[in-house]
Amino acid sequence: MTPSSVVERAAEAPLSRRRFFALSAACAACAACGSTAPPAGKDSALVDGNGGEDAEDVVPDDDGGCEAAEGALGPDWQAVPLVSYPGLAEVGGSANVDLGGRRLVLGQPTAGCFSAVDRACTHQGCDVAFDGGRFVCPCHGAAFGLGGEVLSGPTPIPLGAYPAALRGEIVWVQLSGA
Ligand code: FES
Repeated sequence: MTPSSVVERAAEAPLSRRRFFALSAACAACAACGSTAPPAGKDSALVDGNGGEDAEDVVPDDDGGCEAAEGALGPDWQAVPLVSYPGLAEVGGSANVDLGGRRLVLGQPTAGCFSAVDRACTHQGCDVAFDGGRFVCPCHGAAFGLGGEVLSGPTPIPLGAYPAALRGEIVWVQLSGA
């Protein structure tokens, strides 16, 4: 069975614990090959399969806080299952994620709030790292906020930043958002 067929089958019935893990495994496989299937919208089992009772739905705003995501997630959102990135599941944690041909670093500054930015520093390309509240470059000390904005140089160029929304146990990243 292909990962996409697992996702399609999973969307046809209410989300059980067993199906959740099957779906997470399928999404992890998809993330690895860059062909993730995003949720179709508010009717998706991923979004409402648990009745929406404990599904979180927030994205970081420009100030680094979180606000509710509006509307359904479209086809340009790609999945980052927390089960595949346990470090990201912790508040203050992060993960380096290659998604849709982009090299990203994701961080969770506060519970349920995620930031996603390009990993390559805009100075000379070193990989930036999340320190719990911002992204820092180990090479020459540049620091960037949760929205990719420059906090301190030497570079004046912000990191590309992408909206990220938590739905259940999957962080969805909108790659067209930078
Ligand atoms: Fe990041 Fe120089 S490469 S500050």
